[in-house]
Amino acid sequence: MRLLSIRLIVSLIVGITLVSFGFSYYEVLAKKRSLRTDLEGRAEMLGESLVGNVERAWNNGSQKDLQKVLQRFGSRESLLGVAVYNRQGGLVAISPALAKTLTVSPAAVSQAMNDGHQDAVYDRVGDLPIHILALPVRRQDEIVGGLAIVHDVSYIRSQSVQVWRESFVRVLVQMFLIVLITLLIVRWSITGPIARAALWMRALRTGKISFRNAPPDLAEFRPLAREFATLAESLTNARSAAENEARLRDTAQSLWTADRLAVQLRMRLNDRHLFVVSNREPYMHQRNGKNIEVVVPPSGLVTALEPVLDACDGTWIAHGSGNADAEVIDAHDRIRVPPDDPRYTLRRVWLTKEEEEGYYYGFANEGLWPLCHIAHTRPLFRAGDWQAYQDVNRKFTDAVLEEIADVEKPVVLVQDYHFALMPRLIKEKRPDARVAIFWHIPWPNPEAFGICPWQKQLVDGLLGADLIGFHIQSHCNNFLHTVDRVVESRVDWEHFSVLRKDHRTLVHPFPISVALTADDVDDTTNALNASKANSDRASLMRSLGVEAMYMGVGVDRVDYTKGILERFLAIERFLEKYPSYQGKFTFVQIGAPSRTHIKRYHDLLAEVEAETERINWRFQSGNWKPIVFLKRQHSHEEILPFYQAADLCLVTSLHDGMNLVAKEFLAARHDERGVLILSQFTGAARELRDALLVNPYDIDQTADAIRAALEMAPEDKQLRVHRMRQLIKDRNIYRWAGDLITELCDVRLDEPEDSHDKFRSSVSAA
Ligand code: G6P
Repeated sequence: MRLLSIRLIVSLIVGITLVSFGFSYYEVLAKKRSLRTDLEGRAEMLGESLVGNVERAWNNGSQKDLQKVLQRFGSRESLLGVAVYNRQGGLVAISPALAKTLTVSPAAVSQAMNDGHQDAVYDRVGDLPIHILALPVRRQDEIVGGLAIVHDVSYIRSQSVQVWRESFVRVLVQMFLIVLITLLIVRWSITGPIARAALWMRALRTGKISFRNAPPDLAEFRPLAREFATLAESLTNARSAAENEARLRDTAQSLWTADRLAVQLRMRLNDRHLFVVSNREPYMHQRNGKNIEVVVPPSGLVTALEPVLDACDGTWIAHGSGNADAEVIDAHDRIRVPPDDPRYTLRRVWLTKEEEEGYYYGFANEGLWPLCHIAHTRPLFRAGDWQAYQDVNRKFTDAVLEEIADVEKPVVLVQDYHFALMPRLIKEKRPDARVAIFWHIPWPNPEAFGICPWQKQLVDGLLGADLIGFHIQSHCNNFLHTVDRVVESRVDWEHFSVLRKDHRTLVHPFPISVALTADDVDDTTNALNASKANSDRASLMRSLGVEAMYMGVGVDRVDYTKGILERFLAIERFLEKYPSYQGKFTFVQIGAPSRTHIKRYHDLLAEVEAETERINWRFQSGNWKPIVFLKRQHSHEEILPFYQAADLCLVTSLHDGMNLVAKEFLAARHDERGVLILSQFTGAARELRDALLVNPYDIDQTADAIRAALEMAPEDKQLRVHRMRQLIKDRNIYRWAGDLITELCDVRLDEPEDSHDKFRSSVSAA
């Protein structure tokens, strides 16, 4: 900056000097010119009036008169004097003052006499600059002599010098002021902001502030400021990634974040594109009058998979089920999503009403869903539904094959019980594809599964995959036992894999989770204190028109596997058994209606409403009632305040693959308060051992758990939530996806086990 100032000052000085002196030079020239013109004019006027008088005195022949004339005229401003010469150049008369200076006849006089008209010249006598105006002196028409009028012109020089002196002073003052102003501007507009930016960046570099702290005011350098902010953000992210890595090395823990997943996916996929297939799409477009609204369906699967697609800009192939879905896609049935910030591609597959009826409502949700969930709802197997299921699996497979047509060694992640046949269908056409299927629901024991008339085809379809994932090991075991019973194959219990038709399928557990990271766990900025939780609870209750001291929450799709009715019975029992809580405890059930086209679901919704009314009618008094049933789908943002303000969360599924509500509740509890009451029949119960585990069929046990939760010592609550949050942080959704895809990418394709035996037998034959 000092160098810049010096350069600026030197340039300004040189520039200003050159320009100012240029101007001064012209000013001096102009001044000289005007002084000279003025002098010449005066000399001529004098000459005109003098020459007549001189001629008269000359012609009278009176030397005395001539001398008198010269004396009379000879004393004017800057006039040195006048002199008269004869035709030969001899001096005839001269004014006294001039006589001392001018000793010889000036050439101009001879010139004027010869030419017959006046002549003027600038000359010098010694050091003295003079101006001579010479005029011929006539007698009648004859030139008899010459007259010289001599002016001292030294004043012209001194006035020019004066002009130079003044301009020098002016240049100095100007220079000083301009340099001063320039330096101030530089300081205010450049040096100052840059110094502030440097301080800001130093603070960022040394980790004293976060990039979220506003950058200093760099109005003049807006593009630079933007770059600074981006750089700062990258720096902060890089630092936190490095810190995480360091912590990782320190603690030998695997902390998974969205960034780490993105890096891991890029590394493992090695430029291979990732394709995810599921029935339910992540975004539905629904027409509402003239507007098209975007709806995110209530599905744990959607919550879990979005970060994976985000991380690697993959393609998600799903059923276009929104009534305005077809209006927003391109010519290839694709649309970039999320709509607000597109990061991956959604390819929609269209189903006819009949297909949806048979495949989705029928075989998937009236057959496989109750078959896999032991919830005492009888599965229905109709041949027509099975046909539709096969057709739709083929239809989706065609869409996948279309999407992967130009992709070498694609990686395909199929989701859930809707597509059991798809892995084999894909592999038959594209053996180079790596295919995994993740089964999000439980897999029952072989006896239970055995009632499905098409169990063999389902198992065979699944075994087309290179990798089959379940939430927990016991679902893997159930599956392997089923395989053992229904198809010809070799089950390897040491590595949990199946060899069938020369193709090996790994069957491993990957417990799905939520996006809780180490940063969220360590971040105490969102931590609620007890009084805030109380005031939030009170205002939530007020907004529901209820007054209660304690609040419980449940969040579910209204599905018979979720044990909502059993939960309500337990609440009724709790109030019955511990009447002091009447008037104090309210349970908020957020229930998203689901699959209501199926009679069982339709009836269930009505049953849940009826039970709510019955129990409320029995206990309610004044502004209090025991159950508030919010019957609509709520966004995550709407649910969050309930999670954060609740004293307890009830998850009472009769059977559940994992249950992400349990994990979402814990993820929301930055304050490490609240109690989770969790069904022992969920996959989550295998991990979340600090929850109060209950058998949802045991109504009294759940009622007692509610009381235990409300009366639990705060330190105990804190310790339990803390431990469970740590566990979720370690096994979050990023790890789920990272592990699943890493394992799929590590699979060796087409590696028939007996190839080794064949090799050996060919060697021995030789
Ligand atoms: C379960 C299934 C998902 C399904 C979700 C919502 O979590 O495992 O595959 O998407 O329920 O059900 P829906 O039938 O509405 O998609």
